[in-house]
Amino acid sequence: MIRLALFQPDIPQNAGAMMRLAACMGVPLDLIEPCGFPFDDQRVRRAGMDYIDHLEIVRHASWDRFREFGSGRLVLLTTAGDVTHADFNFAPDDRILVGRESAGVPPEIHRQADARVRIPMRASVRSINVAQAAAIGIAEALRQTGQLPQ
Ligand SMILES: C[S@@+](CC[C@H](N)C(=O)[O-])C[C@H]1O[C@@H](n2cnc3c(N)ncnc32)[C@H](O)[C@@H]1O
Repeated sequence: MIRLALFQPDIPQNAGAMMRLAACMGVPLDLIEPCGFPFDDQRVRRAGMDYIDHLEIVRHASWDRFREFGSGRLVLLTTAGDVTHADFNFAPDDRILVGRESAGVPPEIHRQADARVRIPMRASVRSINVAQAAAIGIAEALRQTGQLPQ
C-alpha cells in the first residue's frame, strides 16, 4: 500500500500533522531520523500524537536503514519535480517521500528517488508547507490507486 516517508523532520508541529494525516488516511508512516526534536516532544503530541493508536509508524535510525526496509518506488515530492502530481501515475505500493521544512532533501537523496513529483504553484512563491504538500500528494496517490478510506 501507499506509504508516507518523512525525511529528518525538523518542525514538530508539521511532523504531528503528518502523523495525523497518515492515521486518518490509513497510510503507514516511515520516520527517517535524526529528527530535529525529541520524538515525544509535546508539540508533536499536541499536533498528532492523539492519533498514535491509529497510526502504523516505523522509525528508521538513518537514511541507509530506511533504504534496507521495504520495497516500492521512492517518489520524492519536490518543488524541482519534472512531472506534476496530477500527471504522475502512482503505483499502489509507492512510498511518498517529503523533505525537511527548512531544506528539503540533499542532492544525493534527490538522485536516489525513482521519481520526482511537483505540486504546481504560482511562480511568485517558493514552496508549500511540508504537511500540506504531503496531504496533496497522499490524497492524489490514494485516489489514483483506489485506496482512499471508505
Ligand atoms: C518547505 S519545502 C522545502 C523547501 C526547501 N527550501 C526546498 O527548496 O526544498 C518542504 C518539503 O515540502 C514538499 N513540498 C513543498 N512544496 C512542494 C511542491 N510545490 N511540490 C512538491 N513538494 C513540495 C517537499 O517534499 C519539500 O521537501
